[in-house]
Amino acid sequence: MICSSAALLAGLLAAATASAAPADVAPRTITPLVCYIFGDTVSPWWLSKCASHLDLTVIDLRSADEYAASHIPGSVSLPFEPISAWSVMGPGDLLLEMPPSAEVWAALGAAGVSNPSPASKIVLVNGVGVPAFPQAASPRVATTLKYAGISEGRVAVLDGGFPAWTAEGLPTTLDVPVPAPRTFTATEDRSFLVNRTYVAANINKKNKGIFLIDGRDEAVYNGSVMEEWALKPGHIPSAVNLPAKHVWNADGSWKSQLELLAMLRGGVGYGVSRSYGQIIVYCGVGGYASTWYFVLTRILGFENVVMYDGSAQEWSQYYDMEL
Ligand SMILES: *[C@@H]1O[C@H](CO)[C@@H](O)[C@H](O)[C@H]1NC(C)=O
Ligand SMILES: *[C@@H]1O[C@H](CO)[C@@H](O)[C@H](O)[C@H]1NC(C)=O
Repeated sequence: MICSSAALLAGLLAAATASAAPADVAPRTITPLVCYIFGDTVSPWWLSKCASHLDLTVIDLRSADEYAASHIPGSVSLPFEPISAWSVMGPGDLLLEMPPSAEVWAALGAAGVSNPSPASKIVLVNGVGVPAFPQAASPRVATTLKYAGISEGRVAVLDGGFPAWTAEGLPTTLDVPVPAPRTFTATEDRSFLVNRTYVAANINKKNKGIFLIDGRDEAVYNGSVMEEWALKPGHIPSAVNLPAKHVWNADGSWKSQLELLAMLRGGVGYGVSRSYGQIIVYCGVGGYASTWYFVLTRILGFENVVMYDGSAQEWSQYYDMEL
């Protein structure tokens, strides 16, 4: 929602220059101003209007089969799967940890994402389902891209995913683009990831503005249902429950900023603000934690959010859970 005023200004200047060109100069395509407004989420309409005007890579995170059946023209397929460029798992590893950054860079380079140009943007496209795992792929990959050093201002999520695109009657294709590979490297950023030692030192600190948010479903949080990867029922002591599945409407579009803020306040009250205190997000293995990380930092503008990627799976191997 926070758009770059510098980019907006650049757009205004570009448009002004373009319209002032003399009549005998060959006409050139003027980039609509709205295309310089690139936020945390973009609408299908925006994407259809702006994709050809910007250095923009559309990455389809759905399965290879779904992509093969129909996709957005020009989009490249990089499925989000347990073993993929977005998350790598070896035998005995925790599920869904951050992959080696070099794998993310290789995947981006192969997809034709340019580097280091900050002008180059990425739009992530997810499917929609119940449970909300397909929706959660986009914020998980957005978080993975942040960790791999791609600045957040370059990455947006298509609101409502692929179903929203087709619901608006926008064209789809079977053509598979062949992007020109580019070399891509960046500087890994682990600054927002915390480990179990850190979490253990920060439970029961609501009076200091430190809140843990558990993004799993109610029944998992309260221990009446156990997910297969956790060794004990319940939640990390002092965590509040905000099931991540509620951040989307039934059609997979994101709830409004106001609704999301109300949801957050329902859980943490006014004990933490955008600049006071800290929110630690976690879930079962790290997927829904990324959803809340995205909502809090990108949609709601909180500056003080960290993610415990080991989540309940790791915590339950070392510490007690609370019921
Ligand atoms: C967690 O991170 C801190 C700070 O980097 C480090 O001192 C500690 O040993 C880490 N704990 C584990 C279990 O890796
Ligand atoms: C746990 O949550 C589920 C789902 O909301 C509910 O049906 C169940 O009664 C709760 N159990 C306890 C012990 O609170």
